[in-house]
Amino acid sequence: MCGIVGYIGSQDAVPILMEGLARLEYRGYDSAGIAVVSASRTQVCRRVGRVRELEASLPRRLSGKVGIGHTRWATHGPVTEANAHPQSSEDGRISVVHNGIIDNAMELRDELLAKGESFSSETDTEVVAHLIANSGTDSLEQAVMDALRQITGTYAFAVTDQRHPDRIVVARNGSPLILGVGHREMFVASDLSALVRHTTSVVHLDDGELATVTAAGFRTFSQEEENTAKTPVSIDLAADEVDLAGYQHYMRKEILEQPRSVERMLRGRLDDRFGTARLDGLNLSPRDLRGFRRVKILGCGSAYYVGQIGAQLIEELARMPADAEPASEFRYRNPVIEPGTLYVAVSQSGETADTTFAVREVKRKGGHVVGLVNVVGSTIARECDGGIYLHAGPEIAVASTKALTHMAIGFAMLALVLGRVRDLSISDGQRIVAGLKELPGQIEQILASEPQIAEIAASLATARSLFFIGRVRAYPVAREGAQKFKEVTYRHAEAYQASELKHGPLALIDEELPTVAIVPDDDLTDRNLGAVEQIRARNGRLVMITHPAVPEGESQRVTVPKNERELDPVLLIIPIQLMAYHAARVLGRDIDKPRNLAKSVTVE
Ligand code: AGP
Repeated sequence: MCGIVGYIGSQDAVPILMEGLARLEYRGYDSAGIAVVSASRTQVCRRVGRVRELEASLPRRLSGKVGIGHTRWATHGPVTEANAHPQSSEDGRISVVHNGIIDNAMELRDELLAKGESFSSETDTEVVAHLIANSGTDSLEQAVMDALRQITGTYAFAVTDQRHPDRIVVARNGSPLILGVGHREMFVASDLSALVRHTTSVVHLDDGELATVTAAGFRTFSQEEENTAKTPVSIDLAADEVDLAGYQHYMRKEILEQPRSVERMLRGRLDDRFGTARLDGLNLSPRDLRGFRRVKILGCGSAYYVGQIGAQLIEELARMPADAEPASEFRYRNPVIEPGTLYVAVSQSGETADTTFAVREVKRKGGHVVGLVNVVGSTIARECDGGIYLHAGPEIAVASTKALTHMAIGFAMLALVLGRVRDLSISDGQRIVAGLKELPGQIEQILASEPQIAEIAASLATARSLFFIGRVRAYPVAREGAQKFKEVTYRHAEAYQASELKHGPLALIDEELPTVAIVPDDDLTDRNLGAVEQIRARNGRLVMITHPAVPEGESQRVTVPKNERELDPVLLIIPIQLMAYHAARVLGRDIDKPRNLAKSVTVE
């Protein structure tokens, strides 16, 4: 949601800003705009709709060496050109792009209105542009700091001033902002993907930090005007990792990347000898790990479903009580934080507002929280007491695939570590380590069935509604299956525990409502086949995602290789990703950017 780019240097800013905005499209947005500053004027262009529509509408002669740009996801005020960013001061001197929400914008706006100011938008951001312009100082940095003292809320800002066309001033509080260091040029972005084409030398700003960015470099400082003297770090991210590289969609590219990305994730982290994992980033000694009595997992959407897989793994391998809860609910219910509980926040983006607030609630009450996060340096990764980076690489498609598989594997490693300081035997630990090592090759085998899965997906695409069912270990897989299908096909899909069918949902079964049944070869196979029979007896159509040893029925089936029973969910999740993708392709959906959804849900 919402994205920021900025450029200052010797090149024309316009194409750089437009390319940066295109890179941010995946985050989700409804309008876009840029402000380009030259010595004589600031030109602001905004447009509702896609970045390419903004590009087509730009005046031909628009150019300048300094500029800021934005993709907006409406929060304050509807989706209109007037509400798109950049927002300007009344005289047009100050331009501001903003991610986040200013909580006291209404009060500040009323005060400004009482002083005779007028506004051209309904945004909280325009209020900030006015505050900066009214500060009465000639220093842009000072004016921004004055404005920040008056506002409360979350933000990442980039600000230009016609009086100071040699600089962009930026500020961060609760919303990511990164500087990119080039040769006699500087870049600003809210997301690394908008920078990697230009530089791998970056500076992550911290909350409460500001920076003056000029063509010659940058200076970081605190709101108390103390230099924070940040130095750039090098990022390990190649431009082709955020490109389509010949694929039609990022979602398929990311699904197919999994054998390699999983191999990379596991490299150096498994200990065959002692049957455990090396997770130094947790910052927890064996004694600390041993001290926890239960585990509480917090995440949203698909991350929550994988959290349920994680809870199951922890209960099975470490024999500790564990459960997952939507972070979006947890943060609002005044939760009891127990000293003996290990809290685990799980997030691909590391920026999900609900999960971030849940982490803060745990910490505020003295709890210990670690993160399973994909984006290095993201808010959740930084605020947790330690964690496991998922190393899935950039995930651009809104529908998460590879990051979820990595989350499940991250939980398996965490469960292993918690188990091995308890009663999990060395041989059982070694059994799980061996199973983890099998995963890349087994995922490769599942991906080889893509043509068959695509065929099944095409036959499911026309159904008005679908069930996904699973039991115990397979239930979160079913939930994720329904979620993925909904997200990219816009078809109704619902997950049930296979055991719950007869308690109500069976009433809906007929020849028009297909069911995707997740039936692993385990101690519950017979019971699952019983549920399958109940559906078949009511003329329900069935697709089974199963293991080769499970007896063939009349249903269409996709088989996945068998791993250790605890790790089966990791593999069962892969076919449902391809199934959702191919069904959406048949339906002609906007697969990488499904309607109404955003990659990082950074607002409530
Ligand atoms: C996944 O396909 C969804 N787009 C969504 O449910 C997502 O998992 C959720 O919003 C949490 O995101 P996060 O992992 O970035 O925190």
